[in-house]
Amino acid sequence: SGSADLVIVANRLPVDRVTLPDGTQGWRQSPGGLVTAIEPILRANQGTWIGWPGGTETEDELEPFEDEGMNLVPMAMTADEVEDHYEGFSNATLWPLYHDVVAKPEFHREWWNSYSAVNRRFAERAAEEAAEGATVWVQDYQMQLVPQMLRELRPDLRIGFFLHIPFPPTELFQQLPWRRQILEGLLGADLVGFQLSGAAQNFVRLVRQRVGHKTHRDLVYLPDGRTVKAAAFPISIDSAGFEELARSEQVEERAVEIREQLGNPQKVFLGVDRLDYTKGIYARLRAFAELIEDGELDVGEAVFVQVATPSREQVEQYRILRDDIDRLVGRINGDLGRIGSPAISYLHASFPREEMAALYRAADVMVVTPFRDGMNLVAKEYVACRFDNDGALVLSEFAGAAEELRQAWQINPYDINGMKSALLDACRAEPRDVTRRMKAMRKQVMEHDVAAWADSFLAELGSLGKAHGKSV
Ligand code: G6P
Repeated sequence: SGSADLVIVANRLPVDRVTLPDGTQGWRQSPGGLVTAIEPILRANQGTWIGWPGGTETEDELEPFEDEGMNLVPMAMTADEVEDHYEGFSNATLWPLYHDVVAKPEFHREWWNSYSAVNRRFAERAAEEAAEGATVWVQDYQMQLVPQMLRELRPDLRIGFFLHIPFPPTELFQQLPWRRQILEGLLGADLVGFQLSGAAQNFVRLVRQRVGHKTHRDLVYLPDGRTVKAAAFPISIDSAGFEELARSEQVEERAVEIREQLGNPQKVFLGVDRLDYTKGIYARLRAFAELIEDGELDVGEAVFVQVATPSREQVEQYRILRDDIDRLVGRINGDLGRIGSPAISYLHASFPREEMAALYRAADVMVVTPFRDGMNLVAKEYVACRFDNDGALVLSEFAGAAEELRQAWQINPYDINGMKSALLDACRAEPRDVTRRMKAMRKQVMEHDVAAWADSFLAELGSLGKAHGKSV
């Protein structure tokens, strides 16, 4: 066995290997909520992170390396594995299936084989890195077979699993030809964590129905005497860190500058998403454009800034989405914009944290409208940055965050008219109302940060592990 007491296994490393403009190799923070959340935890705990660095390097080019308290172990993937495990099974089968089939999931046996092979290699590597009795925390839908594979190799470990995305309703999960293998893979963990308690309940019900194990409330009893717990741990952000960044002079100045560059409009609306069909970007921009057409908002006085971070660009559904959004933005700006005043300021790019904080500071109305989202950390980042208790949040009922951020203007993203009135209500609300709502949401976000999330998961996992050890 290895020497790490805490090992994270995730499909991606927190940094991506990239080729810099001067042709040399460098590293850049990877996109998405998982990395945002887990990275500060692992840094603080001096752990080891096993993951893919992006691209298709060959094995010998990738040596483990240190990065500010983290030991990073890059796992290579071949071009076929990127296509079949990552783009295929993970992002064209599981991703749409787990997000309410917003897009149609595809089922291919070669994809499954590759998913399984990659999971095995990651499990084997975790088995090598973990010290005797260590804790291994497996992350997300790309790695659901790792807990069981790892347990077979290393029964001494404490194994946790956390699913960052929604767990589907039982009726949808049943479509999966490999549903039983996935459930058994997850049952290799001592603790299986979900964003919401409904997801944990779905999982336990499926285990009872499909695998036939005994269950009681949030516990599953395995034939070998082991117990698995399924529970909700709503993930969060480094709230204080974001607030501090937002309070910095540099960010405040940049926020003022952004508003100037936008032509000092009265109202700045903001959307920030990976360019993903689950996020409801198209519907949200249409709703905004209709408000201009209806004469409720004026170009020049209201502007929508949409940041869309490039994501999974080789997957067909994502290409189609990009074309659709390009066309929509072009049409809206062509029809409604004026010289120097587009209706939508569209940025297909990713930005560093400072620039994001400045955008959050510059926005009067933050618009988060996914059709389905595990949590949505962008909503929490906005709240953390609004230390003056101003700023309105429009939030989809279908984001996990809606369970905590009750005081947002909540919307159904399938209901365009409802979304339009919420956008108007949010931007016309009395300052007192805005403040009251933001204050309540800030209390929630500042008190429940990602450190508290990780502590509660790891504490729970620790206590389960002990109970298990005694009973054997
Ligand atoms: C979501 C998923 C993560 C994933 C991230 C970025 O947050 O939950 O597991 O890493 O999106 O997507 P990508 O496919 O680029 O890793």
